[in-house]
Amino acid sequence: DPGRNPRSAPGTPKSLAGTPRACAAASGVRDRSSSIGGAAKRVFDLRDLAAAEVPVEVPHFELDEDPAFWMDRNVQVLVRLRPISAAESTAYGQKRCLIQDSSKTLSWTGHPETMFTFDHVACETISQEKLFRVVGLPMVENCMSGYNGCLFAYGQTGSGKTYTMMGELSKDGNELSNDSGLTPRIFEYLFARIKEEEERRREDKLKYICKCSFLEIYNEQITDLLEPSSTNLQIREDIKKGVYVENLMECYVSSVKDVMLLLLQGVANRKMAATNMNSESSRSHSVFTCVIESHWERDSMTHLRFGRLNLVDLAGSERQKSSGAEGDRLKEAANINRSLSTLGLVIMTLVDVANGKSRHVPYRDSRLTFLLQGFPWRKL
Ligand SMILES: Nc1ncnc2c1ncn2[C@@H]1O[C@H](COP(=O)(O)OP(=O)(O)OP(=O)(O)O)[C@@H](O)[C@H]1O
Ligand SMILES: [Mg+2]
Repeated sequence: DPGRNPRSAPGTPKSLAGTPRACAAASGVRDRSSSIGGAAKRVFDLRDLAAAEVPVEVPHFELDEDPAFWMDRNVQVLVRLRPISAAESTAYGQKRCLIQDSSKTLSWTGHPETMFTFDHVACETISQEKLFRVVGLPMVENCMSGYNGCLFAYGQTGSGKTYTMMGELSKDGNELSNDSGLTPRIFEYLFARIKEEEERRREDKLKYICKCSFLEIYNEQITDLLEPSSTNLQIREDIKKGVYVENLMECYVSSVKDVMLLLLQGVANRKMAATNMNSESSRSHSVFTCVIESHWERDSMTHLRFGRLNLVDLAGSERQKSSGAEGDRLKEAANINRSLSTLGLVIMTLVDVANGKSRHVPYRDSRLTFLLQGFPWRKL
């Protein structure tokens, strides 16, 4: 959602005539503005675009696979564009209000046209596998080296967060499909790398131990997705342990199949519901955590190393008008929007702190930020 949190200030509106494809899409924008004759209220009504559709060819941009890029920087933002769904195409047509100009920039085609720069922009045609190689693989390498990593999927409801984080989960845990998301791919790669490292450093007696937990935050209450009778769990702080969730189940895993079974179990327990914007909308934030511990012997000493990986699939922000939320859905939406605002506020405050300002960081204003407080946010 570049409109909410641009990394670069809107500059001079960029011409969209860079490539023939982008140009075709841009001319669609001009059609739109002339057809609405400057009526500000109707500028954003996509139904104006439904008629007289011309198929829009979307350019493909390759993403750079460079693990070093992720090791040098503490925080990175990748925007993924998803294809227009069949239902959206029928209702609103094919024209986009965001045009990708390069593998790092997007232009919003409103008034004024505004360009935003991110660390990466993944185009509509990027595969799940490619995204894993760009984002997931370096995180696994970092965690195996003892660094904590945290991946958030943030965005409007229906924008593809759950598809990106989970995607298709295979029932037997053996075969991943083209639609399998980052989480199953991360663990497939992690266990292959563990096997490789343990063999390579057999003389050091290197061993890895992995344990996972899976929770959801629904209406500001924490439930264990692996033990759903454990509801309203509390966050505690301890000098040794740091911030942790009391009584949360932790399971040892040693294969992608073990992880897949946990994911299937947890996903089945997660709160989901149909809204106008997504027939399988996540109504809670989910946090899948894996602690990767390694130990080895050298010079008659035992060495220990820990890395923690948090994979967070947030519930999407939504407008009541678009999602049609009522009753329970509306209450959920209010909680979702409030906790996402707190997350945004915490991040903005941390940016101020990183710039030398003395500010109170409101971690405790939401369960999600309180839970993730122990993370290396300060380096943001
Ligand atoms: N890159 C993609 N390619 C193909 N289909 C996609 C892609 N991204 C999302 N989809 C499809 O779009 C629909 C909505 O995606 P998803 O459920 O992941 O959204 P979400 O961001 O998790 O929404 P919410 O916040 O409501 O949970 C799903 O049917 C999903 O399969
Ligand atoms: Mg979702």
